Amino acid sequence: MKNNRLIIISYRLPFSFKTENKTTTLKPSAGGLVTAVKSLDLSASSQKPIWIGCADFTQSVWEKSKHLVNDDFEYVPVFLDKAVNKGFYNGFSNSVLWPLFHYFPGFVDYHDEYLTAYQAANQAVCEKVIEHLKPTDMVWVHDYHFLALPQLIREREPEATIGFFLHIPFPSNELLRLLPRRCRDYLLEGLLGADLIGFHTNDYLIHFLQSVSLNLGLSHNLAKVLYQDRGVQCQAFPIGINYGLYHDAYAQPDVVSERDELKKSYPGKIIFSVDRLDYTKGVMQRLDALEAFLQSHPEWKGNLVFILVVVPSRDEIQTYWERKQMIEQAVGRINGKFATLTWVPIVYRYASLAFPQLIALYTACDVAMITPLRDGMNLVAKEFIATRQDQQGVLLLSELTGAANELGDALLVNPLDEYEVADQLNVALMMPPEEQQRRMAVMQRRVEQYDVKQWANDFFDALAATRQGKRKNHVR
Ligand code: G6P
Repeated sequence: MKNNRLIIISYRLPFSFKTENKTTTLKPSAGGLVTAVKSLDLSASSQKPIWIGCADFTQSVWEKSKHLVNDDFEYVPVFLDKAVNKGFYNGFSNSVLWPLFHYFPGFVDYHDEYLTAYQAANQAVCEKVIEHLKPTDMVWVHDYHFLALPQLIREREPEATIGFFLHIPFPSNELLRLLPRRCRDYLLEGLLGADLIGFHTNDYLIHFLQSVSLNLGLSHNLAKVLYQDRGVQCQAFPIGINYGLYHDAYAQPDVVSERDELKKSYPGKIIFSVDRLDYTKGVMQRLDALEAFLQSHPEWKGNLVFILVVVPSRDEIQTYWERKQMIEQAVGRINGKFATLTWVPIVYRYASLAFPQLIALYTACDVAMITPLRDGMNLVAKEFIATRQDQQGVLLLSELTGAANELGDALLVNPLDEYEVADQLNVALMMPPEEQQRRMAVMQRRVEQYDVKQWANDFFDALAATRQGKRKNHVR
């Protein structure tokens, strides 16, 4: 099956361009999806895989600079109309689907125009897929931006092989039903155009099966939904990371010198967190917990630092830039309350980190405090685990992340309960090295075994199996 050409579709292409002083340079992004797809053994196929995504550059930049993109893929950028992209990305994707699927119904800002833009963007991407699609291709659609796309492709090419993977949670139907009926049916039917639908966890899978049953009256047998005379296989595939990349970075010279510098600057305990700026990440609640902790454990004052890194994200959306202000106020208030003339409890950075700095922080810290209010998986937790060649450090992890299903040896907490988080933070800081080592070893085995390569291969094999199944039915 791996001699079939792969067509990947995701909102972002794995690169962008930067133009400075009239010179354009390529900025590759080292996201998980790129690693995953590159790790698939597609060598049997004589054709390059195709990657279709929405361009964050203009057509003229692309024409002038596409020669810079020298890769194993053929890239196909889709140039959406500016207003369509706004309604599609800022609007329906990130102001409706994102908050709703992460259990923030109060943050949903639904407008019919957003849905119209979402439909237009999915249609535009569908046209590009159809332009390239051959009968033997395998199509793999990614994430909540393209819930409608599988069915759009199916209507044009009924025999196509289509897989879909959702990188965020699929919520309970109690959330989904808040959308207008026509909207939720459109999304569910859109997804059912696929042959295989993948989720991170069994909970998300069960929510989806319940939603198709409650909204569309469709039954399923062993997670195969019967829809328009086809079987749609639904399955959990928890995404992993490139374990080797993170594990091997521990001893890199630039990482070692950054780590030494950190340890010299912060001789006490180091608590670390890094997240994209997003209300789902629970940064405000984390700060509340830290405040409760400093209040109830004054013995730690002067003996620890919390390094809080927030990575800029989606800053055109009000709920995002408002969050930045809230976080900065809270950091200022807590530092003002507890700092002395020679010590501050929180070191805050609003920036994306270079890889060596990130690894230095993962490997210098005593506690990684990863407490989202909701997260489809959370790869930061897995990256932290992978980096710790020394098998030291404690993972304090929200039980409301997909990763918590796999990382039972973390200290699991309810991120909304600031007193529980504060108590567990103390447990983490006091944990003996032998216990840290025992827990870390178990989690490392899991993260190493089920890495991103395994994830991509499992999905791809399952998609290939749906195709073989269809063929057999044909022969009969
Ligand atoms: C989540 C989504 C991805 C998205 C990423 C960054 O992980 O599942 O699809 O690319 O956030 O968000 P952005 O809006 O910057 O692409």
